[in-house]
Amino acid sequence: MLRVAVAQMEPKVDDVDANLLNVKKILKAAGEEGVDLLVLPELANSGYMFKSRDEALARSEAIPNGPFSTVLLEWSQEGRVVVAGICEIKEGNLYNSAAVFADGKHLATYHKIHLFDRENEWFLPGNEEPPVVDFKGHKIGVMVCFDWAFPEVARILALKGADIILHPANLVLPYCQNAMITRSIENRVFTATANRVGTERGVVFSGMSQITSPKGEVLLRLQEEKLRVAGVDLDLSLARDKKITKRNDVMDDRRPSIYGRLSRVT
Ligand code: ACM
Repeated sequence: MLRVAVAQMEPKVDDVDANLLNVKKILKAAGEEGVDLLVLPELANSGYMFKSRDEALARSEAIPNGPFSTVLLEWSQEGRVVVAGICEIKEGNLYNSAAVFADGKHLATYHKIHLFDRENEWFLPGNEEPPVVDFKGHKIGVMVCFDWAFPEVARILALKGADIILHPANLVLPYCQNAMITRSIENRVFTATANRVGTERGVVFSGMSQITSPKGEVLLRLQEEKLRVAGVDLDLSLARDKKITKRNDVMDDRRPSIYGRLSRVT
């Protein structure tokens, strides 16, 4: 069993220091609750509603050496995993990233591939598949927020063997939490969405961070609380059973030879 938790926070676009302080509080609480695997929201170091690329740049950091990443890396040293959304600067470009730290190591960084609304005014989209990392034999996949609207992302992660999809988010549309139930069922995986709360420059974020099971059960769903860590104990091996009926397996029963249109660039 692993204790998997989502952290619901309210990152502030005007106060990066407060974001660092709040993440320290979150990590302390998660440590005290025996969390093994923690998910923080998207852009947790920076806030979301930038007015310009310059604002995003001023709030960005390098992974893994920036201050926010360093705190996460340190927390992971005690045999834990943390995935967080980070406004990243890399080789002069900005990315909406999710960084994975485990056992005191930086395992992976994913650059969000589906940018939402004005994000492409400051971020470059990622051009690589979302990662699946191994932690003590558990397979952990990562995607970011608006990737929920593209079922291909969760499918790729499942095909790469993910038992659970960790999903930092800053959700504004009302559909995602329910869509993630479907992502779970169609791939027979766990999902953990850590969403932010609060209103930033007129935009309201929906909270309702949640964890779902391979059968589409909502194992945990928060409301709109701020600064809250909530977790459940999961047997991630349940995601290895892809049978949806005795005779149907959601992976083996696929018919990729007739899905050619899915990979066609038109
Ligand atoms: C989003 O991708 N932040 C909606």
